[in-house]
Amino acid sequence: SSSLPIFSQEEVTKHRSLEDGVWVTYKGGVYDITEFVAMHPGGDKILLAAGGAIEPFWALYAVHNQEHVLEMLSGYKVGEL
Ligand code: HEM
Repeated sequence: SSSLPIFSQEEVTKHRSLEDGVWVTYKGGVYDITEFVAMHPGGDKILLAAGGAIEPFWALYAVHNQEHVLEMLSGYKVGEL
């Protein structure tokens, strides 16, 4: 079980710019990836997912379907939906 806070989708949606913070969701988890955006190997494309779910994009870019990518994402978890 997790002691992280629960966020609404509405709250997540408020975070879709570097200024307001960049949050995404993945399988019910909420991630603050603001600091990762500049390090993303796929560049600014990552901002297409800002404020919402990354699943539709990762379905298109299968390069993310690797253990090391999920491990990286887990480090940015801030809560649950
Ligand atoms: C590549 C992470 C979101 C597009 C990568 C790689 C990582 C990564 C680690 C390198 C994988 C490897 O080569 O082993 C993430 C994380 C994301 C995210 C943590 C969200 C939190 C997105 C989104 C898109 C995207 C939303 C597109 C809309 C790409 C592309 C590459 C890539 C095109 C390949 C870059 C290249 O090798 O030239 N991403 N990504 N990513 N990502 Fe993402």
